[in-house]
Amino acid sequence: MTNETLHTMGQQHGRRSWAEPWKIKMVEPLTVTERPAREAALIQAGYNTFLLRSDDVYIDLLTDSGTSAMSDRQWAGMMLGDESYAGSRNYYHLEEAVKRYYGYAYLVPTHQGRGAEHLISQVLIKPGDHIPGNMYFTTTRLHQELAGATFHDVIIDEAHDPTSLDPFKGNVDMAKLRGLVEEVGAAKIPYVSLAGTVNMAGGQPVSMANVRELHAYCAGLAIKLLLDATRMVENALFIQEREEGYAGRTIAQILLEFCSYTDGAWMSAKKDHLVNIGGWLAINDRDTFEELRNLVVVYEGLHTYGGMAGRDMEALAIGITEAVQDDHVRSRVGQVRYLGELLTEWDIPIVLPIGGHAIFLDAKRFYPHLAQDVFPAQTLACELYLDSGIRSMERGIVSAGRDPETGDHKRPKLELTRLTIPRRVYTQAHMDVVAESVKACFDARDAATGLRMVFEPKYLRFFQARFEPIV
Ligand code: F0G
Repeated sequence: MTNETLHTMGQQHGRRSWAEPWKIKMVEPLTVTERPAREAALIQAGYNTFLLRSDDVYIDLLTDSGTSAMSDRQWAGMMLGDESYAGSRNYYHLEEAVKRYYGYAYLVPTHQGRGAEHLISQVLIKPGDHIPGNMYFTTTRLHQELAGATFHDVIIDEAHDPTSLDPFKGNVDMAKLRGLVEEVGAAKIPYVSLAGTVNMAGGQPVSMANVRELHAYCAGLAIKLLLDATRMVENALFIQEREEGYAGRTIAQILLEFCSYTDGAWMSAKKDHLVNIGGWLAINDRDTFEELRNLVVVYEGLHTYGGMAGRDMEALAIGITEAVQDDHVRSRVGQVRYLGELLTEWDIPIVLPIGGHAIFLDAKRFYPHLAQDVFPAQTLACELYLDSGIRSMERGIVSAGRDPETGDHKRPKLELTRLTIPRRVYTQAHMDVVAESVKACFDARDAATGLRMVFEPKYLRFFQARFEPIV
């Protein structure tokens, strides 16, 4: 696929531009700071963008998690919160929405995605088990490891190559999966952990053909196929655009079909579902559901709220319906593409094809003179913040953490800085400002010297680690 093809893929309606299917009713002022203030803030934050105060940030592209703008309907729904401890009517609205659009039989609400990951890992994993998945995600893998499993990356090799233009870089490599099953035995694999639009690979999708094949294979071995549905709506758009036979299907139809090949899902509703907090687990198997429903009361809250307020569940139920509208998904991913295309026109190295939720700058090619041990992607996140106050996130060696057995850094092939676009929050003009700031950092790239880590927490170190510049 050429860049030109990628470009036209973003313009489904010939030469006519898309625009957001909404207008703005309420605005939130942004703070523009000067460089000396940003230098001071970054020192205070230990050169970690997670430790900055949001008041010191101009355009916040740290994450698309919980940062989206709710609609007027969702805000109206907040006023209809039924805060009964048990059996809140908002829970039933949520249950109905999940069943209608995702199709699973039973629902367990949780406070956010990692709450769901914790429960499913505790219920299904026994110490010594193995979990294959299409690339790791930080919290997902940690919960699997804490439950006693070893995670195995079985994604296709192309996913680890930022320049490969494979249209479905999120796919599972069936040969790798078969190899693992032969090595450890199907009895040691409670489930395959399949993520829609793989976050750490650059927001890359899984094809319908791949999930269909996985379903047939796993069912034959009594291995469950579980979906991380966090950004599955965006995955459905890529299937609509790229996979034969799906151009005439709606996002909602594609989503439902995809989920039908899986046995259950966990969800960080803070992404696709356009809410600031929330999550859920859904499963078809009644016995597993009973165990999950029992455990949710230990860690999250009663099984009809799972850590969310009634009003949160109402906003979430409405958000699910808004999330699967074709014009919404097209404009959301269209904005990400707009930014990516500006950067590729300037020959700035990013992960291609452009993903669903973010632009991932390829820090290895951005800073070819920096070794991975001096944290090029973390360095780039700092340089970008210093240049303009734009906040991004490291997705490379810091995020990958340490090998639990050897204690050494894991050294992922992908060393990326993520510019994550919140849904319905920033305008095209903000994207222009972002692109220009990335360009300024690119022009000054030879001056970057890297960082050293001076404080390292035990779990999910990227959130709280501290660094100092190498001078
Ligand atoms: N799965 C995926 C694919 C995610 O991206 C996340 C969170 C989770 C699970 C965990 O959900 O945050 O609600 O507990 N990703 C955020 C991010 C934090 O910035 O990518 P959570």
